[in-house]
Amino acid sequence: VKGGFETFMEKEIHDQPKAVADTLLGRHDEAGNLVLDELRVDESVLRGVDKIVVVACGTAAYAGHVAKYAVEHWCRIPVEVELAHEFRYRDPVVNVRTLVVAISQSGETMDTLMAVRHASEQGAKVLAIVNTHGSTIAREADAVLYTHAGPEVAVASTKAFLAQITACYLLGLYLSQVRGYKYPDEVAGYLEELGKLPGKIEQVLEQEEDIKAVARAMQSNTSVLFLGRHVGFPVAMEGALKLKELAYIHAEGFAAGELKHGPIALIEPGQPVFVIVPTPRRPLLHQKVVSNIQEVRARGARTLVIAEEGDESVEEFAEVIFRVPRTPTLMMPLVTVVPLQIFAAELAAAKGLDVDQPRNLAKSVTVE
Ligand code: M6R
Repeated sequence: VKGGFETFMEKEIHDQPKAVADTLLGRHDEAGNLVLDELRVDESVLRGVDKIVVVACGTAAYAGHVAKYAVEHWCRIPVEVELAHEFRYRDPVVNVRTLVVAISQSGETMDTLMAVRHASEQGAKVLAIVNTHGSTIAREADAVLYTHAGPEVAVASTKAFLAQITACYLLGLYLSQVRGYKYPDEVAGYLEELGKLPGKIEQVLEQEEDIKAVARAMQSNTSVLFLGRHVGFPVAMEGALKLKELAYIHAEGFAAGELKHGPIALIEPGQPVFVIVPTPRRPLLHQKVVSNIQEVRARGARTLVIAEEGDESVEEFAEVIFRVPRTPTLMMPLVTVVPLQIFAAELAAAKGLDVDQPRNLAKSVTVE
């Protein structure tokens, strides 16, 4: 069942290239036009949308944060991302022109389901990005875009996360196509880039043994920080969540720009800090994050850096570098999160913990 792996989580990490490929499969024609007939939402409704609100919990919410960067850039529609349980109990501004996107692996998360019901009551259209066919959220939403990650058994979400991000890209490009914002060849170009992602994820998986060796050597650490900027920010939060839930280590993900507004006070000699570095092809973004590595390094932090192949600027300040292949900025989360998943799983295994079933957690949280 575990495909020769020790744990389901390890298997699911290795299933990720396929999860992304399967989620892309059959969703565009040969000319590179997206074909999402399965949505069954009238294109005129999608053209009339003036705001998108993503509701989700945990890892699924981080997929929503990635979606915000991509959808706003590709479609110029404002996107808010809100934890489903917070959305539900305030008085959110949603109406018939709002598209509420609910993201959920299980499709049974009660907090997310209640947010879906609340949004429907306000007249919003609800689109669900769900992995489990026929689940409650899929049934109650107006439209469904299924992720094709296959069953996810480990409590910690991995392949569902990558499939959710992929589905969000498809949705963003589709909205752009329907609303005529991006030129058709631009949409086709992005789809072509997305098609290369499964191979790139494989390349990251090839560094597995190196990542594991670093993780095993860090068993006694009690605190790990994660820094990212732009789409690297949700990746930092996801890296921290994985480490908390699997290895029971206190971990926090920050927006790198926030460092000087407080968190830098936490840096003392020996503090491990993961830094997710944007591509050097975005020099303004890139330079700022490289400066952050310098700042924490100068205060004695251990810097574990995730950077693009060929980016030499990080070498001077990084204790360890995990490389990811050259990828368009908005799609980088699909490769940069992988080392963080492997790291957390291996550290938990090295501590003798149950990687697939961490304490106090359930795979799907069906109570509010
Ligand atoms: O099934 P869902 O995607 O709705 O679940 C949402 C969260 O409960 C889930 O992502 C949780 O945070 C995972 N344990 C993270 O690994």
